[in-house]
Amino acid sequence: MKRKFGLLALVALGVLSFQVGNAQEPNKYSNLQVLDADTTRDELGDAMLQNLFGLGLPRRQREGCLFCHVGDMDLPVSEWDFPSDDKKTKLKARVMMQMVADINADYLARLDDRMDPDFRVTCETCHAGRTDPRPLDTILIKEYSANGISGAIDKYEELRARYFGAGAYDFRPYVLTKIARTIAATGAWNDALVIETKNEEVHPDNRSAARARLTMQVARKMYEDSVLSALAYYDEIRQDEAPGVAGYSILDNLGWTIHREERVDDALLIFRKNLELFPSEYVANESLGDALWFSDDKAAGIAVFEAWVQANPENDMGRRRLLNMQEEFSKTE
Ligand code: HEC
Ligand code: HEC
Repeated sequence: MKRKFGLLALVALGVLSFQVGNAQEPNKYSNLQVLDADTTRDELGDAMLQNLFGLGLPRRQREGCLFCHVGDMDLPVSEWDFPSDDKKTKLKARVMMQMVADINADYLARLDDRMDPDFRVTCETCHAGRTDPRPLDTILIKEYSANGISGAIDKYEELRARYFGAGAYDFRPYVLTKIARTIAATGAWNDALVIETKNEEVHPDNRSAARARLTMQVARKMYEDSVLSALAYYDEIRQDEAPGVAGYSILDNLGWTIHREERVDDALLIFRKNLELFPSEYVANESLGDALWFSDDKAAGIAVFEAWVQANPENDMGRRRLLNMQEEFSKTE
């Protein structure tokens, strides 16, 4: 079933509209399967521009048309074979055009109370100016598997140089941290740290990038060696960090990571160390108290909260947690 292909508001891009073929040519296209047979030259031009811009292809001298169409920059455009379906990308694009037309006509049109002015899905909605719509982490992890850490870093540089600020990829710090963790989970700590270091380099003012790198350094020591040596190592390296980087969250995160792996005693070691470093930080008290409570040493858990409440009587959170624990504890006695 054919459906008229939605022409987007390229009016706004009026200056960019252009004609496909000579003005004298009759508007006869021989291989339209999604667009209507009677599509005018202007309509076809708009649809092709949408393809071009949605995928971020270069418009100069119609070079971007060659992503889908058979032709050659050394030949005049009149000799290009636009009806040909030889390129796989054109076949895919045809399915995409039908999909977009269906989304707009069958699905969005069914909503009552549409957004005003009504918003239509276009190639841009998913592709955001790139031919490959996959997110940054998917692309980099794939590149890493194929070409190692230098391949992943090169790809990152390439995409960042081309797309930064275009909204095409998510360049916020947490994405590289997520990638680094995926890589660390395979045991490739050096590579994971290269990613975290890159993150810090491109986000020099962002403490979360520095914290993620520091956390990974300590985690590595912990998994490759032991919790005790990781804590000693942390003591040594945290002195060199910029202010605010080596905060309570580093060991707190590691403690709960280990706790999830059912290494309760190791988690307790970490939480104790963190409380020693940050005695006036509520979270450091809470984590140790909770971990003890969950380890079934309920009395020891309560003692941590008692000490906290004594030192910080004005803190509501601690007082409430203590009351709850005491209440529950008296029931189990
Ligand atoms: C992302 C892929 C893609 C890009 C980029 C693209 N096209 Fe197309 N083009 C298509 C598809 C798919 C069709 C067939 C549409 C259909 O089946 O209704 C088509 C059809 C056409 C046709 C009609 C051919 C015929 O006779 O059947 C012309 C002419 C054309 N495109 C010109 C261009 C020009 C000029 C550009 C560059 C400005 C361009 N296209 C960019 C995918 C693309
Ligand atoms: C709903 C999201 C969505 C929209 C809208 C969308 N695409 Fe896609 N596109 C995808 C996905 C997902 C893929 C990857 C498909 C695969 O190969 O698994 C893709 C792949 C493609 C490819 C193949 C790229 C390559 O390098 O092989 C082309 C070409 C393409 N889309 C063109 C278009 C065009 C043209 C439009 C607008 C008419 C469009 N897409 C709209 C999601 C979308």
